[in-house]
Amino acid sequence: MPVQRLDNRVVLIHPKGATAELLLYGATVISWKAGSRANSEPAERLFLSSKALLDGSKAVRGGIPIVFPCFGPPTHPEHSRLSQHGFARSESWELDSTVTDNDDGVSVRLTLGPTPSIIAKYNRSFHLAYVVTLQEHQLSTDLHVTNTSTSDGLEFQALFHNYVLAPADEVLVYPLQNIMYYDKTEATEEGRNKPKVESRSNVDVRKFTDSVYEDASQKYEVMWPGEGVQIRTSGLKDVVIWNPQSEAGSKMADMEDGGWKKFVCVEPGCVRGFTNIEPGKTWVGQQVLSVVLM
Ligand code: BG6
Repeated sequence: MPVQRLDNRVVLIHPKGATAELLLYGATVISWKAGSRANSEPAERLFLSSKALLDGSKAVRGGIPIVFPCFGPPTHPEHSRLSQHGFARSESWELDSTVTDNDDGVSVRLTLGPTPSIIAKYNRSFHLAYVVTLQEHQLSTDLHVTNTSTSDGLEFQALFHNYVLAPADEVLVYPLQNIMYYDKTEATEEGRNKPKVESRSNVDVRKFTDSVYEDASQKYEVMWPGEGVQIRTSGLKDVVIWNPQSEAGSKMADMEDGGWKKFVCVEPGCVRGFTNIEPGKTWVGQQVLSVVLM
């Protein structure tokens, strides 16, 4: 069975051995195994904190949470009742259908529309569809945001919060050189900070890092000795690089001890300013994660 529906999750299984697992809660991809060396099993590519709660009581600390419709604490008046990173990562999605199931790939579609709990804090007309496709060496995630209103625009931010499993003291992310970014570790009390220009050809996360790059290249290499993950995106102009290190990570109840040494978050999104969708239209943001073995 290439698509297994379990109680609270969906498992995708590729004929060549790759697997992916999604919780219906938050449509959170919590595991992606792909890319094996000779005679070994496909390796896990996403970090999931051993203290992450998977019971639907809190957004998952790890995997690929979906950020929508606001990134960080809400700044848009229509988002004022939402919590950090919005509601998509902490609502239960529906498994809508299996989109593809062949030797090339396995793909499922999950959906989320206004439920009473969402309407209570976000009374806007929208529909979300999330398509996750597993291929032998890659995982694609596509978020479709439809403005179902017949009269009003829909302004939102969206982001894929990828926790890439990687040795944080060795991993490098590029190309980000010469791109303008906001260093949130230096934010003022008002939450504002001045833009900087990235001078490094390879960005590391050996210290607490929380940087929002604006209008980036949309294609990133996340590399450490011997292997890595390439991320190609479309419709997602910005990218956030985040690692809390012990400075911020040790204060997170659901972060395992030393967990910050095991990942880098490389998060493609539209998070500087707001994207507007006209009534009846759909916006699509896509990423393709590929395993790189050297
Ligand atoms: C990143 C933000 O995307 O997510 C950080 O830039 C934030 O500021 C981090 O701390 C984790 O957020 P949360 O809500 O999952 O703890």
